[in-house]
Amino acid sequence: MSKQWTVHNPEGSQRVIVTKELPGDRWLDILVAANCSVEVCESSDVLTGDDIKERFGGGVDGVIGQLTEDWNADLFAALAAAGGRAYSNYAVGYNNVDVAGATAAGIPVGNTPGVLTETTAEMAAALTLAAGRRVVEADRFMRGGHYHGWLPTMYMGQRFHGKTVGIIGCGRIGAAFGRIMVEGFKMHLVYYDLYPNERLESFVADYSELLVAHGEAPVMATRLESIDDVLRTADVVSLHTVLDESTTHLIDASRLSLMKENAILINSSRGPVIDEAALVEHCRTHPDFKAGLDVFEDEPAMKPGLADLDNVTIVPHIASATTWTRQGMATLAAANVAAILQGYPVWDGEDVLTFLEGDVPKFAPSIVNAGELGLS
Ligand code: DGY
Repeated sequence: MSKQWTVHNPEGSQRVIVTKELPGDRWLDILVAANCSVEVCESSDVLTGDDIKERFGGGVDGVIGQLTEDWNADLFAALAAAGGRAYSNYAVGYNNVDVAGATAAGIPVGNTPGVLTETTAEMAAALTLAAGRRVVEADRFMRGGHYHGWLPTMYMGQRFHGKTVGIIGCGRIGAAFGRIMVEGFKMHLVYYDLYPNERLESFVADYSELLVAHGEAPVMATRLESIDDVLRTADVVSLHTVLDESTTHLIDASRLSLMKENAILINSSRGPVIDEAALVEHCRTHPDFKAGLDVFEDEPAMKPGLADLDNVTIVPHIASATTWTRQGMATLAAANVAAILQGYPVWDGEDVLTFLEGDVPKFAPSIVNAGELGLS
């Protein structure tokens, strides 16, 4: 059945398709200021490649698409054939995008970094606390009318203070999560990443000095040699890798078996980084082990048995879901498309927050294949 679309600024001279409704107004203002007519799909169904191609119709200039859509080489070729010159994912992650295929079709691919960092890290922390302190289980117990009086042994969980947090993939989000756990719970930090995160290590060293100066115990940040070392050492392990061939099923049955019996595993990166069937089995046979998941291997489906486990806390891919972040993502995605369509350069600074207010941006905030396409 064909989907409902809302058209904004129909007199605009360039046509931009937005495959889902986006929050806020600034993103639309940016596209309208770039003289675009903007067509927004109102359906919450995931659009297929054929749905999207059908909407290209006789011609389209740019698209803002979703992480749930398969932006493969064929779709980018169709976009280019329809006159398309710009695409932005409404996400920082772009494992749903065939970037080589887009580059071959001459299409710049935008993403939305920098506005999800703390928000996603905060959700990883929320899942850690919920899992470790059994918040969801206890909530269900209360709502079920089972609380008949305080007991010394009721819903005992984990204490975080002074324990060790482990980060796998210590980029922006991983480091932000690490800092929350170090600063909030005075945890030691171990991490595995291909590259050292010197900024994080130096922050933790300075923070440790501050703690010691106030008569508290020091904390340490250490980059370990391997993922296995992190899994063996940490009490809480949080995954912050990209998803590609090298990270698919990075956490499988054998790696789960390295973790402490009562460890907590958090995933707010991409579902397939964990072998979810192996996790179900591990959680079933290790009741003291906890997992907090924002993402799922076959999203939106869950592997059989996952939802039956009390030691698993599950939320529907909402780690970036704060109003500020989701509006910021919309702004960055729109600015990516509008800037490319107007021939503006690609931003080369780290800080994209400058795009979130003030004048209409005259840069594309983040184009992942800018180098390959010779854009600067
Ligand atoms: C992303 O941006 O990659 C998140 O998964 C969704 O916000």
